[in-house]
Amino acid sequence: MLNILVSGGAGFIGSTLVDALLAKGHKVTVLDNLVSGRRDYVNQAADFWELDILDDSLSERFLSSKFDLVYHLAAQIDVRISVKDPVLDNRINVVGGLNILEAARLSGVKKIIMASTGGAIYGETNEIPTPETVAAYPLSPYGINKLALEKYLNYYYQVFKLDYSILRFSNVYGPRQYKGGEAGVIAIFTEALANNKPCLIYGDGKQTRDYVYVDDVVAALIKAAEINYRGEINISTAQEVDIWQMIEAIEKAADKKLQTSLAPSKPGEVLRSCLSNQRAKEILDWQPQVSFTDGISKTYQWVVKQS
Ligand SMILES: NC(=O)c1ccc[n+]([C@@H]2O[C@H](COP(=O)([O-])OP(=O)(O)OC[C@H]3O[C@@H](n4cnc5c(N)ncnc54)[C@H](O)[C@@H]3O)[C@@H](O)[C@H]2O)c1
Repeated sequence: MLNILVSGGAGFIGSTLVDALLAKGHKVTVLDNLVSGRRDYVNQAADFWELDILDDSLSERFLSSKFDLVYHLAAQIDVRISVKDPVLDNRINVVGGLNILEAARLSGVKKIIMASTGGAIYGETNEIPTPETVAAYPLSPYGINKLALEKYLNYYYQVFKLDYSILRFSNVYGPRQYKGGEAGVIAIFTEALANNKPCLIYGDGKQTRDYVYVDDVVAALIKAAEINYRGEINISTAQEVDIWQMIEAIEKAADKKLQTSLAPSKPGEVLRSCLSNQRAKEILDWQPQVSFTDGISKTYQWVVKQS
């Protein structure tokens, strides 16, 4: 049994991870300021700190809690907000992340696992599905700040021997997803269809993404605690799905049609994003188990229950 802190543990991926860690018998503390997370998503069996990752008391709290392992998922996750306010994104995603790293270092945490992004870190590339060996030239402050924190993790290992793993998720979807997020498009479209509301499509709808189901991502996060590998690992399906294919899958799950209209594309948005998962297969012994059709159907059923 490990003593684990999950930052962002009231959020979409974090709260799903917390449930899985508790089911495995670990002791879990959730740190979250509830800016997009929800108190009712936090498992009753976890300790809960309603706190900002920038809070000055972090090191002191870590010292008295003696965590073995930290999952760092708390972040400003919206690419469009990062384009509008890069300073805010930097403060949360770099300075906030550093505050976690300092608290971890000072309190003797053994390992930190960071939720990074594959969708926003590589920029526009012709290598699709994109492997981790492609140089990262992010096209948004969000991607740049995630990359900066990755480099800090490496620095903390080199200098202080604080161990780490970095998982670069493609676009994650599933129950509990916050609609404003990086990959909120499935959350937005499923909710719109469940409530018979229209949807805006930015650009021509031919932009592709690699959508990975949340339970598969959680399985990868759990496996990452057991490996001894300090590079970046993409967590993805390696399959490209465009907006029209996504809509078709949602309509099939709902057995009704979505009303759509087109709007101009947004700055900072990449046209194609699809990540190789070869390294995850080799290093983590992980591959996605949930098909897109099944994942969309589970997500839609959850959204209907909430509406
Ligand atoms: N959802 C995706 O497709 C995706 C893709 C790539 C990477 N990620 C990364 O995965 C992680 C989790 O994302 P998610 O989709 O679950 O988003 P989410 O918004 O549901 O979760 C983020 C959580 O962090 C909390 N938080 C935000 N700022 C905070 C702060 N300053 N202090 C304390 N808590 C704070 C929020 O309240 C929320 O509970 C993030 O680091 C995100 O960048 C997500």
